[in-house]
Amino acid sequence: VSHPVFAWVFGRASVVLDRAGGQEHRRRLVAGLSGRVVEVGAGSGRNLVHYPPGVREVVAVEPEHRLREAAARAARTSPVPVTVVDGVAGALPVADAAFDAVVFSLVLCSVPDQSAALTEAHRVLRPGGRLRFYEHVVADRPGVLRRAQRLADATVWPTLFGGCHTGRDTLAAVAAAGFDLGPVDRFTFPRTPLAALFAPHVLGEAVRP
Ligand SMILES: C[S@@+](CC[C@H](N)C(=O)[O-])C[C@H]1O[C@@H](n2cnc3c(N)ncnc32)[C@H](O)[C@@H]1O
Repeated sequence: VSHPVFAWVFGRASVVLDRAGGQEHRRRLVAGLSGRVVEVGAGSGRNLVHYPPGVREVVAVEPEHRLREAAARAARTSPVPVTVVDGVAGALPVADAAFDAVVFSLVLCSVPDQSAALTEAHRVLRPGGRLRFYEHVVADRPGVLRRAQRLADATVWPTLFGGCHTGRDTLAAVAAAGFDLGPVDRFTFPRTPLAALFAPHVLGEAVRP
């Protein structure tokens, strides 16, 4: 996977967004996790510094080589042991039922097949394992924003932004993959009209039964 323009743009945009509140979302995303964790599509590794001490190991899977190199640098600042590896969400390079948690952060918008990615997450989690997600999603009610998301996704958006889609119903996909949805926070971020297409977010947990 190579998305040089997206990797450059996202690298800069994520610093700005994290300063504007994203960092706190990332901290909440991984708070309270423990044991072995797979982070899927780890990007430049912006969550790695937030893992709590109860985490024994993070396997950070990232297919884009520039972002993977950045994640390897970020891994050095993590308070927990991190291994950065090449791989894709639809074929995770790890064993069945070997992990206590799987983390998706702004990734289920970009994977080519959400169902395959979530089925893989289910495979690698032990029973009772936790799926944590922080994702931008489809607007929560029909209207202009949903129509604009549909139009963006059918035209230039995925090509411009590394396969990203603005209008996916990620919570429905998580439930359809066999997870029990836990507490989910819905919020708008960032709160600027310029970012409206990707502002509806969900942050929460689901459990592999
Ligand atoms: C918007 S970035 C988010 C990066 C990071 N998770 C974060 O929160 O900053 C989307 C990430 O998904 C990754 N990605 C795209 N397709 C993927 C796939 N099929 N499997 C795994 N990761 C993928 C991209 O390389 C990129 O790192």
